[in-house]
Amino acid sequence: MVKIAPSILSADFARFGEEIRAIDAAGCDYVHVDVMDGHFVPNMTFGAPIIEKLRPHTAKPFDVHLMIDPAQPYLEEYAKAGADIITVHAEADKHLDRSLQVIRSLGKKAGVSLNPATPESVLAYVLDKVDLILVMSVNPGFGGQSFIPAQLEKIRRIREMIGDRPIELEVDGGVNVDTIADVVAAGADVLVAGSAVFKGDDYAKTIGDLRTAAKG
Ligand code: DX5
Ligand code: ZN
Repeated sequence: MVKIAPSILSADFARFGEEIRAIDAAGCDYVHVDVMDGHFVPNMTFGAPIIEKLRPHTAKPFDVHLMIDPAQPYLEEYAKAGADIITVHAEADKHLDRSLQVIRSLGKKAGVSLNPATPESVLAYVLDKVDLILVMSVNPGFGGQSFIPAQLEKIRRIREMIGDRPIELEVDGGVNVDTIADVVAAGADVLVAGSAVFKGDDYAKTIGDLRTAAKG
């Protein structure tokens, strides 16, 4: 069964705690937390102090997607704030191998994310240090964009590279009931959904519909 990770980028920030309790009750697997710096991506969200305040609202894993450059100086701060998975962007890190080691040394799961134009070859020599690979299927920065179909081939290739390693393959951007089946068929097992989940009022129904659609 696939994991569904609602992105709280599309939540109502003025009711943040309540929104997180609602997606928890609706049966999400992870809470996907988008951190943006207005430099690596053309948008800003929030940082570690807010994540720390959100932490008591759910026991579900916090899947923290750092769209910040640099990320390495802040890894400890995000670990302390309550992240369970910390994902850095390959494009924002001159020393990806070291960042992944630091994340694991902090007792957290280490993720690498690739922008749509970044080839999967950057993963080749860090596969033994990675717990999660996050394929961006939109250009990061905003919710509600359309899925980029060319990413399906990248997802398939990364699924092959992973082989039998215990690495999760997550896809982020434009995932909804119309696109999720192809993404899962290509090899993804963790699906981020922001606008698809938060646009309606019944989060449990939407998450259920996504799980059903994922079966193809
Ligand atoms: C985009 C973020 C995504 C975003 C996805 O930069 O990383 O997590 O919230 O939003 P949707 O699901 O609406 O495409
Ligand atoms: Zn994200």
